[in-house]
Amino acid sequence: MKKQVTVGVFGCGYWGPLLIRNLKGLPGCQLKAVCDPDVARMKHICALYPDLEGITASQQLIAARDVNAVVIATPVKSHYPLAKASLLAGKHTFIEKPMATSSQECEELIDIAERKGLVLMVDHTFLYSAPVRKIVEIVHAGDIGELRYINSRRLNLGLFQKDVNVAWDLAPHDISIILHILGEFPTAVNCQGNAHVTPQVEDVTNMSLVFPHKRFATIQSSWLEPRKIREMTIVGSRRMIVYDDLQTHEKIRIYDVRVERPPHYDTFAEFHYSYHYGDSYIPYLQQEEPLNLACRHFIDCIETNSAPISGGRHGLEMIRILEGASASLKMNGAPFIFGSTNGSTPAPTPNGNGSGHYPKPKRTRSAVSSARDATAGVLENA
Ligand SMILES: NC(=O)c1ccc[n+]([C@@H]2O[C@H](COP(=O)([O-])OP(=O)(O)OC[C@H]3O[C@@H](n4cnc5c(N)ncnc54)[C@H](O)[C@@H]3O)[C@@H](O)[C@H]2O)c1
Repeated sequence: MKKQVTVGVFGCGYWGPLLIRNLKGLPGCQLKAVCDPDVARMKHICALYPDLEGITASQQLIAARDVNAVVIATPVKSHYPLAKASLLAGKHTFIEKPMATSSQECEELIDIAERKGLVLMVDHTFLYSAPVRKIVEIVHAGDIGELRYINSRRLNLGLFQKDVNVAWDLAPHDISIILHILGEFPTAVNCQGNAHVTPQVEDVTNMSLVFPHKRFATIQSSWLEPRKIREMTIVGSRRMIVYDDLQTHEKIRIYDVRVERPPHYDTFAEFHYSYHYGDSYIPYLQQEEPLNLACRHFIDCIETNSAPISGGRHGLEMIRILEGASASLKMNGAPFIFGSTNGSTPAPTPNGNGSGHYPKPKRTRSAVSSARDATAGVLENA
């Protein structure tokens, strides 16, 4: 019989219990322990799942010999120390986004994982969602023509974080999707924002990512909006896609619209002919819970010794962009150029395992099938 992957989870706050629920039902995975210094949270989870061992000291889970993989769903500043200790103890490690607080921390974690031959995965949850997989499929098939720009808005009232600003909290979702679609690293980032509620912690930011070939992406993030919005527009030369993650079923709509400037026109009426209005259509999407697919992918990667779709290097790229955005914020929105004198590090180059390039999402058969009945709605809270 195949040996099960034994797992422990750090963090029983808001996101940890969702991971625990998904890990609980996974074939090939045995969830053994949960750890949270907050005794009430730990006890709450153990009451829901009485077979789990409840731990309050992280060192105890790190040292547990019968646990060979950990999932870290704690505040961002604790990701690096917990991940480093877990990897050094020989445990495969799954870290919530954002991977760490600096690119140096990410590089160190990647190095330890590679030296020890361990799986290091970052939870860029949306890469496992059906709408994003469909968008990537459509764009990579060339169906929308030449991609011109991407515009993303992730807005709502709260949940205010104390240790990271709204760009570090919400924009990772948009950045991971944008990098996955475009398949390249930006040349520059600029970001403006303001802290209205908690001093020094920006609660609204506007970020722009500049890519080669005149392509760009804009990301608006806010905890100060009256309405909840989770919307992305992908504009191509032939078609355009609107992705509204708050829709229950019709999350993606593809518009067959474009504007072509005629070489010659004499009248205003003729000029209008350059606008093409075609049909719009809604592709069918299999209802699957992305977090379930992400958890399953982690277990699959351990079992097959393969690199995750969102590995340590993808986590590092994300942190480089967020660091660039923070530097730009300090310069009142002036661009931070990657690899220049005002930029700290050059854009990453492809590198074997978990490379800086974005292959089409590779889905394992088991990951797709068993999450079928789960709902995708949980990402509405992300
Ligand atoms: N992928 C997503 O869509 C998504 C969504 C929400 C949150 N997150 C990420 O999940 C992580 C946790 O966020 P949250 O909203 O659940 O935070 P939270 O504050 O609600 O919960 C964090 C929990 O971690 C516990 N904790 C702190 N230090 C610990 C340690 N050393 N060992 C074990 N437990 C410890 C805290 O007591 C708390 O219960 C963050 O990194 C966040 O960015 C990801």
